[in-house]
Amino acid sequence: MASVSEVPVGEGREFTVGDRIVAVFNLDGAFHAVDGICLHAGGPVAQGKVTGCVVTCPWHGWQYDVTTGKHCLTPRLALDRFPVRVVDDAVEVEV
Ligand code: FES
Repeated sequence: MASVSEVPVGEGREFTVGDRIVAVFNLDGAFHAVDGICLHAGGPVAQGKVTGCVVTCPWHGWQYDVTTGKHCLTPRLALDRFPVRVVDDAVEVEV
């Protein structure tokens, strides 16, 4: 799907997998994947600033834990999570 080098440490990148927009984050070499479309108004989650394990949507500031997909203030709201594995240099996401 993507190569490890496409997703720098501490950042996210957006990919299309099947019919889903997926945000992949690299937290110190551990990769996490969540739905790339913000639950608020459809903002690009992958383009948000990452602090620790929290990404802040660039449009209006909703924050999600990228390891769980859960909204930080309202955990019943959660982005879909997808299994990720790294095979050699490839990041593979199962949607
Ligand atoms: S679209 Fe993400 S916070 Fe509004």
